[in-house]
Amino acid sequence: METIAVYPGSFDPLTNGHIDLVERGLKIFDKVVIVTLNNRAKKPLFSVEERLSMIRDCFQGMDSVEVDAFDGLVVDYARKRNANAILRGMRAVSDFENEFQMAMFNRRLNRDVQTVFLMTGMRWIFTSSSGIKEVASFGGDVSGMVPPSIEKKLKDKFHQAYSKG
Ligand code: PNS
Repeated sequence: METIAVYPGSFDPLTNGHIDLVERGLKIFDKVVIVTLNNRAKKPLFSVEERLSMIRDCFQGMDSVEVDAFDGLVVDYARKRNANAILRGMRAVSDFENEFQMAMFNRRLNRDVQTVFLMTGMRWIFTSSSGIKEVASFGGDVSGMVPPSIEKKLKDKFHQAYSKG
C-alpha cells in the first residue's frame, strides 16, 4: 500500500527549506501531500489561492507530490487522506516547543496518525517564511532562499503594497 505523509503549513510563502523537507520526506514516503492550512496566530501575506498556485508551480510534473488546501484541523485532513503521518520540519531547538505542543495536540485528537519530524538541511537552518517576508518587504535580496518564481511574487506583492501607499 502507498504510504502517504501530509505536510501541513502556512507556506506564506514556500521556501527552499520547505522544498528540501519535501524531498527528504519522499525518501521515506511514497507520496507527500503539501497542505496549506490557516495558522490563526498569523496574518497571511498571500491568499490561499496564491499560495496554492505558487506551490503547484514549484512541484509541477512530480507525481509523488500533491498540493492542497484545507480549512480545519490537520488531523481531520490526515484522516480524510488516509495518511500514515504528519510531516514537520525541525530547524533548531527554538522550533521544538511549538512543534512538541502541536504534535501532542494532534496525537490527542487522532491516535492513528504519527507526527514525523525531519531535520532540514543545514543550508536552510535559519530560513523562515517570516524572515524572508521581512527582508523582501525592505527590498532585501532573498534569492537562493526561495525559488525564483516566488522571489518575483514577493517583489510584486511588496511593490503593490508600496504603490498603494
Ligand atoms: O507553517 P506553520 O505556520 O508553522 O504551520 C502551522 C500549521 C498551519 C501546521 C498549524 O497552525 C495547524 O496545524 N493549523 C491547523 C489547525 C490545527 O490542526 N491545529 C492543531 C494543532 S494545535
